[in-house]
Amino acid sequence: MKDTPEDARNADVELPEGPLTWEQRLALAFAGVEVIAATPTQEDLELRRIAYLGKRGLLAEAFRELRKLAAHERALRGDQANRARAALEAAIEKRREELAALEAARPADALDVTLPGRAVEVGHRHPLMTTLERLLDIFVGMGYSVATGPEVEWTTLNWTALNYPPDHPAMDEQDSFYVTDEIMLRTQTSTVQVRAMRAQHEDTCPVRTLDWRFPPHEVLGRCRCQPRPLRVVAPGRTYRRESVTLTHNDVFHQLEGLVVDEGITFADLKGTLVAFLSAYLGTRVQVRFRPDFFPFTEPSADFSVNCVLCETRGCRFCKESGWVEIGGSGMVHPNVLIAGGYDPEKVSGFAFGFGVERLAQRGYEIPHIRTLYDNDMRFLRQF
Ligand code: DAH
Repeated sequence: MKDTPEDARNADVELPEGPLTWEQRLALAFAGVEVIAATPTQEDLELRRIAYLGKRGLLAEAFRELRKLAAHERALRGDQANRARAALEAAIEKRREELAALEAARPADALDVTLPGRAVEVGHRHPLMTTLERLLDIFVGMGYSVATGPEVEWTTLNWTALNYPPDHPAMDEQDSFYVTDEIMLRTQTSTVQVRAMRAQHEDTCPVRTLDWRFPPHEVLGRCRCQPRPLRVVAPGRTYRRESVTLTHNDVFHQLEGLVVDEGITFADLKGTLVAFLSAYLGTRVQVRFRPDFFPFTEPSADFSVNCVLCETRGCRFCKESGWVEIGGSGMVHPNVLIAGGYDPEKVSGFAFGFGVERLAQRGYEIPHIRTLYDNDMRFLRQF
C-alpha cells in the first residue's frame, strides 16, 4: 500500500482538518491507540497506520514542528511525541497479530461472504426433444394432428390388433418387458394406430367405448357411424429387450404416422416420406425404399437415407452399407383398419414409424446412441 495523501484521506479515522495545537495533536495520537485496537481488517489497519504514522500523517507534522523549538522545549516535546509514536506502533503491531490469529482460527468451512456467488446455469432442451419438436412441426405443417398413447399398454394393441397372429416370429424381433400376460411396455408406437382410429368414431358409437382387450375382428359389426378420415402422428417412448449398440438402446423414441381416407395409395406414402425427410434433412437427401415385412401393413417397405458420416462410402455408423435405415412403412392391412372400426372396402391408408434417436443421430452427426441418455454436460452443452 502506498503512503500517499489520498490513502491518508481514505482512512476512516476522523482526524480534524486544519491547524492543530500541540496538545490537540498529542491527544489525538494517544486516542488513536483505541481506534487501532478496534480496526476490523488488515486493510483498514494499514490505512490507519498511514493516517497516524505516515509521511504526511498526524505525528510527522508534530515532528516537523519540533525543529523550530528551543533545545529544552524540543527535548520535552520530542519525548512526548516519541511516546505517542511508540504507543501507536505497539497498538498497530498488536492488532496485526490479533487479526492474523482470527484469520487462522476461522474454520475452513466458515461462510465466506466475500466469495463470488455461483452462477445459475440456464438449461435448454435436450437434443432429442428438439429433434422431436422439429419432426412434429413438419408434420403439423402438412396437416397432421398429434396423438399419444400409454407406454404401459394392452398386449392386444401391441400385437393382436396389429394383425400379429399368435406366436408369429415377427414378435421375436421386439422382445419386450411384460407386466402381466395382458399388459406390457409397448415395443412400438403402432399401438396408437388403433387408439387413434377408434377415436374418430362418433361419441355414441360402441367402438369408442370398446374394451381394448376385445378381439379386433368383432369391432366393425358394432359400428353404425361413419368414422372420420384420419391424418395423425404419434410420438412416444418405446421399450425393447435389446443389447445396446451404436444405434440400439432398450428405451427409445418412435414417431408413428397414420393416414386413413378414401383412395389413399402407396404414392401418397412415398411422396409424404420424401417430403418429410427433405424438410428435415435437406433437399439433397437421398431416400431409399425396399420391400419389407410388417404384419400390420401390406405391402410394406423400409426406408433409408444416405449416410452423412461417410457420404455413402460405408462406415461403422451405416454398417458399411452407405445407408441408414430410418423406419418402416406400408399400406395399412385390412385387419388393422377393421380393428380401428373402418371398412377396408371403403377406405385405405398408409402408415409409417421410425426411431427418433436415429434421426437425431443422423441430423446432429452423433455416432453413439448412448450419448443421448448419459446426461454428460460436456455433450449436452454443444446443443
Ligand atoms: N412399428 C414398426 C417397428 O417398430 C415400424 C413401423 C413399420 C411402423 C411399418 C409402421 C409401419 O407404421 O407401417 O419396427
